[in-house]
Amino acid sequence: MKNEEKQKKRGDLKLPPGSMGWPCIGETSKLYSQDPNVFFSSKQKRYGDIFKTNILGYPCVMLASPEAARFVLVTHAHLFKPTYPKSKEKLLGPWALFFHQGEYHNRLRKLVQSSLSPEAIKKRVPDIETIAVSCLDSWAASGKVANTFHQMKKYAFEVGVLAIFGHLDEKYRYELKKNYFILDKGYNSFPSSLPGTSYHNALLARKRLNQILKEIIRERKEKKIILERDLLGHLLDYKDEKCQTLTEDQIADNVTGVLFAAQDTTASALTWIIKYLNDNHKLLQSAKAEQLEIFKSNDGGKKHLTWGQTRQMPFTFRVILESLRMASIISFTFREAVVDVEYDGYLIPKGWKVMPLFRNIHHNPELFKDPQIFDPSRFEDAPKPNTFMPFGNGGHACPGNELAKLQMLILIHHLVSNFRCSVTSSQGSVQYSPFPVPQHGLPARLYKESNHKDKDSDLGQICTQNP
Ligand code: HEM
Repeated sequence: MKNEEKQKKRGDLKLPPGSMGWPCIGETSKLYSQDPNVFFSSKQKRYGDIFKTNILGYPCVMLASPEAARFVLVTHAHLFKPTYPKSKEKLLGPWALFFHQGEYHNRLRKLVQSSLSPEAIKKRVPDIETIAVSCLDSWAASGKVANTFHQMKKYAFEVGVLAIFGHLDEKYRYELKKNYFILDKGYNSFPSSLPGTSYHNALLARKRLNQILKEIIRERKEKKIILERDLLGHLLDYKDEKCQTLTEDQIADNVTGVLFAAQDTTASALTWIIKYLNDNHKLLQSAKAEQLEIFKSNDGGKKHLTWGQTRQMPFTFRVILESLRMASIISFTFREAVVDVEYDGYLIPKGWKVMPLFRNIHHNPELFKDPQIFDPSRFEDAPKPNTFMPFGNGGHACPGNELAKLQMLILIHHLVSNFRCSVTSSQGSVQYSPFPVPQHGLPARLYKESNHKDKDSDLGQICTQNP
């Protein structure tokens, strides 16, 4: 009887409006042949905040309202599970926490969260600062126009390694970096297992990464340095109620997963921040004025930044928040309905993909006035609940968000206080790799400012655009 009622109910409900495109390919070609934001927002205009489509042969329901995103990610998260293509899961490792839901996910998440909490990352400020200065110095010393996104990737990688391993032996760091970058290249390529293809190379690099990670783990166990408070320390130290520890595969997959989650996201956000600062001189002046106060009080950068100082950068912090809103690096996420779900009078059938559209929410004029205008002052007041989700929402929300914000603040502090950045081409379209990045990764040259005396008169000169 209960089942009949269920069936009847299912029969009574209608699917959300929208078009499913051609059989099999659905609307994939439309999505990939135009700016995905145009694709989503034109659908939203036509059908409203909930609509169906078909991407890569999968029927999907897209959700463009804060209430719907909250329903899927927070209040009814148990009705949806994370879903990723098998080819990606194979590269990162099936034990990485973001592929899981329930008991295992909760356990792993607690470990990741505590290693990335403000308490844990506070003591990393001087090390992150050293990495930031070294990255900016070597970019400036090269004297060359470089791809800003690639430079920021190097920075984000080093900070990720620091958060995971603490201080890591140079030989391991070198091997990790070499293999990680091959894996990263293959992640977004066509998943072919033919030898010589980027995907196949990435699979081989993944195997080598496992070996390196297992060596690091064994060395730590031998030297009995398990109790380090970095992520690896937390993973090695873990015992469940039956005194079971995590397997080496579980540890290796989660280390690779966190490194992956940390890198392109943060690098893409930083690239956009540099672009927005470059495009708007008033903005740059205000950020520079705020940072120079701190720079001078630290004896022109001779003393290390403190955690407290990073909490006293309100303007720069708002620039970061507004950049995250404008660029919406993670434009949407995927879940899959594990049962038939009713939402707002519509049926979301079991097995369908569900996509909360963060970018559409961040660019909704009813939630963010004049959403196309870059205006950090909009964050002087907290945004309405569930409307600002650069780091997601609910049980899978980003555990690295505090570290991401901290490393952005530290890099911007040094960039605007001590360097001049000459962007060679700031106009043009957006590139998806898969995160949105300015065209060609924002090519730019960096100059170190040798004369600190005239810094105040330099306001506004930190970024110049070549004709
Ligand atoms: C600007 C930088 C970043 C952005 C915009 C960002 C964004 C996000 C978002 C939106 C999610 C949720 C995805 C979903 O619900 O499907 C997420 C998850 C995650 N992020 Fe980040 N992230 C950033 C940096 C970082 C950093 C620095 C780390 C680690 C050091 C990190 C580690 C993770 C992990 C492990 C997850 C999976 C959490 C889970 O499934 O429970 N992220 N991130």
